Amino acid sequence: MILRAALFHLFLFCASQILAINITSDPGNDSEGVIHVGLEGPVSLVCALDTQPEEELVWLRHDAVVRLEDGNKKGRSAVCVTPIHEDNGAMFTCYQKGNSTVRASVTLNVTFAPNISGSEEVTVEEEGVLVLECDIRANPLLSSVTWTLNGSLVDLRAGGFTVINNGLTSQLKASKVEKSLHEGMYQCTVVSPMYGVRNKLFQVTTTGKTLKFPLGPIIAGVVVVALTALFAVVSRWKKITKCCK
Ligand SMILES: *[C@@H]1O[C@H](CO)[C@@H](O)[C@H](O)[C@H]1NC(C)=O
Ligand SMILES: *[C@@H]1O[C@H](CO)[C@@H](O)[C@H](O)[C@H]1NC(C)=O
Ligand SMILES: *[C@@H]1O[C@H](CO)[C@@H](O)[C@H](O)[C@H]1NC(C)=O
Repeated sequence: MILRAALFHLFLFCASQILAINITSDPGNDSEGVIHVGLEGPVSLVCALDTQPEEELVWLRHDAVVRLEDGNKKGRSAVCVTPIHEDNGAMFTCYQKGNSTVRASVTLNVTFAPNISGSEEVTVEEEGVLVLECDIRANPLLSSVTWTLNGSLVDLRAGGFTVINNGLTSQLKASKVEKSLHEGMYQCTVVSPMYGVRNKLFQVTTTGKTLKFPLGPIIAGVVVVALTALFAVVSRWKKITKCCK
């Protein structure tokens, strides 16, 4: 009986703690306090103290204090957020000033499509470096990212390609471009569980190598010098060996 009474009181105590402060949102939040919203937003959050309407409220975005107008602090306080990509996962917390044990939080889940479309013309020098990039940021996360060349999957080994996905972009790179291996129509294709399939095209053409220096004459000159030196040593060597005999 005593234990039960104690538990009951504990429950009441916790309930009053939870109910003392309350965030309502538009659009509404689910039971875990997550608000699902697109980039078009906006989201309005209203925090209210049930029992002490004279107390001031404080808002945090993660750990940073949100600046509030004077009339927007006592007993009830509203903030409005127009979500951007970086607000995905942002946690907003409201608490009673001077007593942060009384607090409530909500988290934004900002859903947005991958920004992939259209086509681009890319020109690359032979023996140069080819770099193609697709923005792969999306929420929910993409279920696949693929690169094709002329309609078939890019053969990483044959073309000396590397693909790096860092969570922000997918980068296809070839470091020594050859016309026969690398020219053509590239496409990056992503699949989003919410927004479906998206593509971006890259029409890649190669141009002949332009020499930064007149390498030809320099090489010829170096060869002449080297050969002259070699002949000098050889003929001298003959003399040296002769006199040693
Ligand atoms: C904070 O508020 C709770 C609930 O109203 C109260 O029980 C507690 O004593 C307060 N703490 C301080 C430091 O004022
Ligand atoms: C956000 O919502 C999407 C789609 O409902 C879900 O896949 C994802 O896990 C959620 N992310 C977070 C951080 O809750
Ligand atoms: C891709 O197709 C174009 C046009 O048909 C062709 O010129 C090019 O050589 C092809 N690229 C590869 C790597 O096969």
